[in-house]
Amino acid sequence: MANVVVVGTQWGDEGKGKIVDLLTRYADYIVRFQGGNNAGHTLVVEGKQFIFHLIPSGILYENKRCMIGNGVVIDPEVLLAEMKELEESGLPVTPQRLMISENAHLIMPYHKALDLNQEAALKSNKKIGTTGRGIGPCYGDKINRKGIKIGDLLDEDLFKDKLKDNVEEKNFLLTKQLQTEPVSYAETYSKFQLFAEKLEPYLGNVSVELDKARKSGRHILFEGAQGTQLDIDHGTYPFVTSSNTVAGNACTGSGFGPVHIDSVIGILKAYTTRVGSGPFPSELFDDTGEQLQRKGGEFGATTGRKRRCGWLDSVVANEAIRLNGITGLAVTKLDVLSGQSNLKIATSYEAAGKKFKAMPSNIRVTQHVKPVYEEVGGWQEEIGGVRSLDDLPVQARDYIKRIEDITETPAVIISVGPARDETLLLQNPFAG
Ligand code: GDP
Ligand code: IMO
Ligand code: MG
Repeated sequence: MANVVVVGTQWGDEGKGKIVDLLTRYADYIVRFQGGNNAGHTLVVEGKQFIFHLIPSGILYENKRCMIGNGVVIDPEVLLAEMKELEESGLPVTPQRLMISENAHLIMPYHKALDLNQEAALKSNKKIGTTGRGIGPCYGDKINRKGIKIGDLLDEDLFKDKLKDNVEEKNFLLTKQLQTEPVSYAETYSKFQLFAEKLEPYLGNVSVELDKARKSGRHILFEGAQGTQLDIDHGTYPFVTSSNTVAGNACTGSGFGPVHIDSVIGILKAYTTRVGSGPFPSELFDDTGEQLQRKGGEFGATTGRKRRCGWLDSVVANEAIRLNGITGLAVTKLDVLSGQSNLKIATSYEAAGKKFKAMPSNIRVTQHVKPVYEEVGGWQEEIGGVRSLDDLPVQARDYIKRIEDITETPAVIISVGPARDETLLLQNPFAG
C-alpha cells in the first residue's frame, strides 16, 4: 500500500497533469484537494490532448475512482462542461468514477464578478493577474464563514437563505464600491437548482470513502494544483493563489490523516515559468527566455496567457523540498533545454549586499533580489525519444545529477515530452 502526494514546486504548470496521469496506472483513487478551475492540467494520451480544470487527471482510466475533496472550490458550470466533454469522448463520468465532497465550496456568479472587477480596479503594480475564475472571493467567503457548500444545494431552505444574504452583500459591493452590474438572485437560484439535480448523485463523504479505501489496502494518489510559490502562506504573497498548495493540505483538503501519507513527489520543470504578476528572480527577458517560451509551448492552459520564462531556480526548488517534505522529484520538460549551449541554475540571491539561500519573507526584498548563477554545460541533441538514463547526453545526465545534489533529493521521474510514454520512470513511488 502507498499513498502518494504530487505537488508543483514552482509557480504552477510544472506538468502535474502529465505525471498524475502517468502514476494513475498504479493508483486506485485520485484526489484533488485544493484550488479550483484556476488550474489547467494537460494530458496527452494517444495523440489526443485533454485539459482538466477540476476533474482529477486520473479520469482517463476507466476503473479508477476520482475524488474532489472538501478543499476544492467548485464552479458547477465548469465541472458539468468537463463531464460533458469526457462523455463526448466516449468516457462518461458516472458516480462510480467521480465523488465530490459535500463540503467543497461553490464558486458563485458574484465571486467571478468580484474577482474580475476587484482586479480591474487595482493599480497596475498591485494587480495579481488572477485567472478571473472567482477563486479568491470564494475562499474569502469560506474563511469568513459566509460560503455556500455544494452539499447545501440539497437543502432548499438553507441554500435560499445563504444565497439571499450573499447576493444582498455582494450586490452592495458590486454596485456601490465597484460601480458595476449586480447579480440576479432569481437567475442564480434557478441556475443552481439545475446544477443541484445534475450533481446530486455525485455528492458524498470523501473522507469516509478514502478511509475505507486506505483500510482495504488501496493506493491513493493526491493531485495538487498550482505550485509551492503560489501557496497562500508560503508563496510570494500577495502574488499567490488563495489556497494552501503544499502537500500538508492534501490531508486537510480531503479529510485524510497525515500519518498515512507515504511519499511526496515534487514536480520540477527543468526551467522556470510563471503566469500572472509577482516576483520571479530567475526570469529571462532576452532571446533565451523567448526560446524557452516557444520551444516549451509556454501558454497558460486556463487563460491562454504567455508564460514568463527563466532559468531553473534551486532556491525555489529547496523551498519546495522543505515545505512539502518532498521525497522524490519528477523533472519535466528536460527536452525543452536541448539546443542551449550553456544552462544556468540560480543557487542563491543577493539584495542590498545581503545573500539569501531561502526566499526572503518581505515581498519588496523578493521583488529586487538578483540571482547568483552557477553555469553548467548544455546539449544539442533532441531527447524526446530517449527512454533510459544511459541514453541521455552526458550533459543532460550531469544536469539531473546537479539538481539531485543541490536539492539532496533523488529524481525519480524524468519527462522528455508531453505524452505518457515520453517518460523515464526511474523509481515508482507506488512500489516502495
Ligand atoms: P500542470 O498545470 O502542472 O498540469 O501543467 P500544464 O498542463 O499547465 O503545463 C505543462 C505543459 O507542458 C502541458 O502543455 C504539457 O502537455 C506539457 N508537458 C508536460 N511534460 C512535458 C515534457 O516533459 N516535455 C514537453 N515538451 N512538454 C511537456
Ligand atoms: P496549475 O494547477 C499557474 C496564478 C494566476 C495568478 C495567481 C492568482 O495549472 O499549475 P487565482 O485565479 O488563483 O486567484 O490567481 O495564481 N495561478 C496559476 N498559475 N498555474 C496554475 O494552476 C495557476 N492557478 C493560479 O496566474 O498569478
Ligand atoms: Mg497548468
